[in-house]
Amino acid sequence: MTLPLGTAAGRREANGWEGGVIKARPILYYKNSNILNYHNPSLTVISSEIIPGAIRWRSPSNIALVKYWGKHGNQLPQNASVSFTLSGAATDTTLRYKSRQEAGESVEVALLLDGTPNSGFTERTKAFLEKLLPVYPFLKQLSFTIETSNSFPHSAGIASSASGMSALALCLVSLEEELFEPFADRAEFLAKASYLSRLGSGSACRSVYGGAAVWGKLPGLDGSSDEYAVSVTESLHEVFKNYHDDILLISKSEKSVSSRAGHGLMEGNPYATARYAQANRRTDEMLSVLKHGNVERFGEILESEALTLHALMMSSHPPYILIRPNTLQVIERIHRYRADTGNPLYFTLDAGPNLHLLYPHAVAAEVKQFIREELLYFCEDKMYLADRVGKGPERLEVNE
Ligand code: DP6
Repeated sequence: MTLPLGTAAGRREANGWEGGVIKARPILYYKNSNILNYHNPSLTVISSEIIPGAIRWRSPSNIALVKYWGKHGNQLPQNASVSFTLSGAATDTTLRYKSRQEAGESVEVALLLDGTPNSGFTERTKAFLEKLLPVYPFLKQLSFTIETSNSFPHSAGIASSASGMSALALCLVSLEEELFEPFADRAEFLAKASYLSRLGSGSACRSVYGGAAVWGKLPGLDGSSDEYAVSVTESLHEVFKNYHDDILLISKSEKSVSSRAGHGLMEGNPYATARYAQANRRTDEMLSVLKHGNVERFGEILESEALTLHALMMSSHPPYILIRPNTLQVIERIHRYRADTGNPLYFTLDAGPNLHLLYPHAVAAEVKQFIREELLYFCEDKMYLADRVGKGPERLEVNE
């Protein structure tokens, strides 16, 4: 007898459970101490028995304090990185699924961005889902519609890959959970979501945790891995738990060199080896700073990371420059402001010209006044986004 998949018993049968014994649980086995492998060819469903459903997650962006820049193999980082997860800048994604008439070799998916079909995003999403087939063979047995929207304007020049990929990965892991009930606990669920996010976009793997997260194997951090990020929120000092991150939109134009291409150029960069070693040391030190609440040392590492990242771009072959004259104008004013007031206001940059201004809540009123009066002039359309360290992704009710 085949039980309907809509029931837990049906799902267990389809997945090979017998007498309460899990047979087809996603395989978590270590090839060696560094490599975790989720590949599981037996993770399939009886597609005729799938009850159509929908899953919705909102997942935030994150800002790297120590940067991931350079990768190898299948989306593995050349060095460890650590980030704050944000609160306001987020992607809201609904994954609708139903059984497919005939299973094909490719994945059937349509993507709507803000309610409008988007062929570019559909192609990218399809490529991502197809990359996941060794992990989730059932994806080609289903048909998907994905609705996605960002909390920040598309034209803002802010990368949405971290929030977008992590929101979709969380939907997929929830789908796995609904179909197969595979996870022993929330930690396993989040590690898998982080792993899938990473395959979509490296930095996205850090977004599945609130507070702060580390991606990359660090000898001093138990459980850390190149395959997925781990949370370090428990050891965050109070001052960092509600840290501010105001994003100054210096230019909203599309970047001339994508992050993907930038990572690739690290391969020929003469400083690459020294940089990877430096980033690992700094991630270690940053973890200690985050624990002890040293906002000055935090800021020194933060700014040096931003400038090092852009120096690596300038020393790539061919070299390129993503910061703009106004980026430098703002940096100079931040340095002057710090010297004049002693307030611990520091900046960082992603792979673009926009500045993230990080500071503790205690100086928020003063810093915001400074931003309004002296920095907005340098922003395109005088725009900035006020954000904070956030609590991480949220599963939401689906809108019918
Ligand atoms: C500068 O995660 O966007 O923001 O893995 O190719 O998708 P892909 O790259 P991506 O690179 C982000 C680089 C960074 C630093 C960081 O977030 O660590």
